[in-house]
Amino acid sequence: MTTLDNPPAETTEAANPTNTFDVEALVRPDRVHGSVYTSPEIFRRELEQIFRKGWVYVAHDSEVPEPGDYITRMMGQEPVIVARGKDGQVRVLANRCAHRGNRLCNAEQGNATSFRCPYHGWTFSNEGPLVAVPMRNGYADRYDSLRGELGLTPAARVDTYRGFVFASLAPTGISLLEHLGRSTDAIDRLLALSPAGELQLGAGHMKHFQNCNWKMVMENNVDGYHALFTHKSVYDAVRPAKVSHQPAKVKVLVRDLGGGHSEIDYSEEYEKLDEEFVWFGRSPREKLPAYVSAMEAAYGPERTHHSLVVGPPHTLIFPNLFLAEMNIMTVDLLAADRTVAYTTPALLKGAPELNGKMLRRTEGAMGPAGFLIADDGEIGFRNQRGLAARGSEWLQLSRGLESDLDNETGTVNYDKSSETPQRGFWREWARVMGASA
Ligand code: FES
Ligand SMILES: [Fe+2]
Repeated sequence: MTTLDNPPAETTEAANPTNTFDVEALVRPDRVHGSVYTSPEIFRRELEQIFRKGWVYVAHDSEVPEPGDYITRMMGQEPVIVARGKDGQVRVLANRCAHRGNRLCNAEQGNATSFRCPYHGWTFSNEGPLVAVPMRNGYADRYDSLRGELGLTPAARVDTYRGFVFASLAPTGISLLEHLGRSTDAIDRLLALSPAGELQLGAGHMKHFQNCNWKMVMENNVDGYHALFTHKSVYDAVRPAKVSHQPAKVKVLVRDLGGGHSEIDYSEEYEKLDEEFVWFGRSPREKLPAYVSAMEAAYGPERTHHSLVVGPPHTLIFPNLFLAEMNIMTVDLLAADRTVAYTTPALLKGAPELNGKMLRRTEGAMGPAGFLIADDGEIGFRNQRGLAARGSEWLQLSRGLESDLDNETGTVNYDKSSETPQRGFWREWARVMGASA
């Protein structure tokens, strides 16, 4: 049996592991093989096993608030249109013309009742059916039947949780709620900061091109180890008001929620401090009077105080959604070593006063001249480059293994630098990737 004291011998069997797809050759409880970030074969299998068969975050319904609103997104490498029909329903449609396969809609977002293909002009309604074909006589008597048959292919399953729209390209599988598991608590925690209990993601997205594998981007979001090093310049420059990063001093924990979902949770430490807005630069409530009174009108003083003490979640929802405290992040997968991270401020309905300040803060973290994501992008690039060098084939994920605790909230570790979240991510990755194709 593999233990920390008795690690497996370095292997070469994973050099081309996808012939039989031997997950054991790639993921162990305390380590992953470096090829999981670099192999094009593994990347292709991820597209199939994770991004076609599983639930994937595609959009938030506040991004398409009105009938006719649409945005274009990717599910893995498949372009989709997320469109709200005149019936009010949000659909996820393949962005592929039924004539010759051209990408139908090439705008990032807009409002339209139909989409006209730029190649030969076929037109589809925003609910999917083909509605018009130029020079239809070329199809003679077959036109009506063709029109009935050809439309935009809808995602096999679409479901939402409190406005977060997820889709799966597989007709069968677990429900969205089963997939989300305990991670719904994090979404609830975020929405508890809105007087209306809703998000309003209308600020557009920041797009950061990252020269690394998509999993590096997502895992790094719940890596509590790197901040003091990767982001040293930020801490030197702005001295964030957050609590200490020294694990011995604070009750900040990392948590594997199961299902690949995981988080860094400051709430116990914040509750201990019992101070509002520690997560928001220790802004006194007097500076946000309209927001605080709207919150108290909606929830009463006690629940409001608690929400303002614990703040937003820092939670990764497998595979492609990150509730980044005051931002929402998702990723586009370009190739095994190329990713685009999309972030948008987590603007809250009914909270214009807070939203205005939040925009400035998110510019500082995620903007083109911002600190945090630029640091992470550079370290991701260097990580990807480093993996090209020869060395141990395995990457360590054993930090904190002995001090993980199981409780009713998942597997937690009170050392925030523990690699507990990553171990949870990889366990789910191995389960899904190892499932029969
Ligand atoms: S490919 Fe779209 S009309 Fe021809
Ligand atoms: Fe970071």
